Amino acid sequence: MKTLTVELGERAYPIIFCHGLISKESALGAEVLLETAGRSVFIVSNDQVAALYLPRLMALFAGKRVGYHCLPDGEAFKTLSQVETIMGKLISEGFTRDSTVIALGGGVVGDVAGFAAAIFQRGVPVIQIPTTLLSQVDSSVGGKTAVNHPLGKNMVGAFHQPALVAIDVGTLTTLSDREFAAGVAEIVKHAALGDADYFDWLEDHCEQIVARDIDCLNEMIERSCRIKATIVAEDEKEQGRRGLLNLGHTFGHAIETLSGYGVVLHGEAVAIGLLMAAEYSHRAGFISERISARLRSLLAAFGLPLLLPAALTRGDFKTAMARDKKATQSGLRLIVLKALGQAEIIDQVDDDVLDQTLTSWL
Ligand SMILES: NC(=O)c1ccc[n+]([C@@H]2O[C@H](COP(=O)([O-])OP(=O)(O)OC[C@H]3O[C@@H](n4cnc5c(N)ncnc54)[C@H](O)[C@@H]3O)[C@@H](O)[C@H]2O)c1
Repeated sequence: MKTLTVELGERAYPIIFCHGLISKESALGAEVLLETAGRSVFIVSNDQVAALYLPRLMALFAGKRVGYHCLPDGEAFKTLSQVETIMGKLISEGFTRDSTVIALGGGVVGDVAGFAAAIFQRGVPVIQIPTTLLSQVDSSVGGKTAVNHPLGKNMVGAFHQPALVAIDVGTLTTLSDREFAAGVAEIVKHAALGDADYFDWLEDHCEQIVARDIDCLNEMIERSCRIKATIVAEDEKEQGRRGLLNLGHTFGHAIETLSGYGVVLHGEAVAIGLLMAAEYSHRAGFISERISARLRSLLAAFGLPLLLPAALTRGDFKTAMARDKKATQSGLRLIVLKALGQAEIIDQVDDDVLDQTLTSWL
């Protein structure tokens, strides 16, 4: 079983690649999971994932104290009200500070469970068992937890690093094509911002990835986790370099906010956001049109929708971008591409270039 460590000093934790933990009888990685979890666990999942994988996970914890809460499925339930329900169950069922919260599901479950763990009794450990491609390469690693507010996505949250991330690639076999593609968007983002060789590899292995070849997926997930883990280790609280991981997200979050949560998948919004960020970078003179074109072809090859989902106005778009968490008091902040595999954070956004970029899309 392969392991990767997120090097964060006393908050360091392993990412284990355990194909079979809950997708097969082999239960690879169960020992590490049980040892980390301790004797009292509270599982947070959602209706869809629980139907597929909760019985196997519960069976692993036979003999321990186990509670659970299933969210209804969807981004619309990434709310404070769900966190409050979880708090109610934890308290009324007698869970204490020596309990561990386990997130079984995609990024929505991971973010809600992580935030619940961050605030229950001022913080208990959380173990992430991500079951979507997006959550395996992105949301489960790095300790960002949050819920949405009607005025903005991920507006209420906390940094709370997991004690363990257990990735069972076998869970991806039940994921829909649309959700799978959405996860690939974050992977393309990793390559675009930090590793040009990885970008070439993705172009070369596109067919195997779409066919969900397990070896290929394992290699891809590990490479992406490595990029994310390295950046997180350098800048845990996003004071600087970690901001690079937001490539495409200032545009993407605006798309999500303006179209209503859940209409466009997060990864789909990120895919369009990546292209918009590339467009800005090209218009600002940082990259050639060829790089934008390669990015577009790769995202298209994975079946990602690359048009805005609704008629949005430039004014609405700019307002939504300004409200994004990445905006600072002094104004908008954007991540631009300086080359393939190289991104940079800029605080001096050129308003004319931004207007031209938005106009070309709206
Ligand atoms: N914390 C972070 O650092 C971070 C980073 C990126 C994204 N996010 C957040 O993650 C969320 C998106 O995550 P997501 O894309 O995983 O969406 P999701 O959690 O909504 O899952 C997508 C869908 O797949 C289903 N599903 C999950 N696993 C499955 C499986 N193995 N088989 C079949 N169906 C399965 C879910 O029930 C859901 O319908 C957003 O809220 C986003 O803001 C957080």
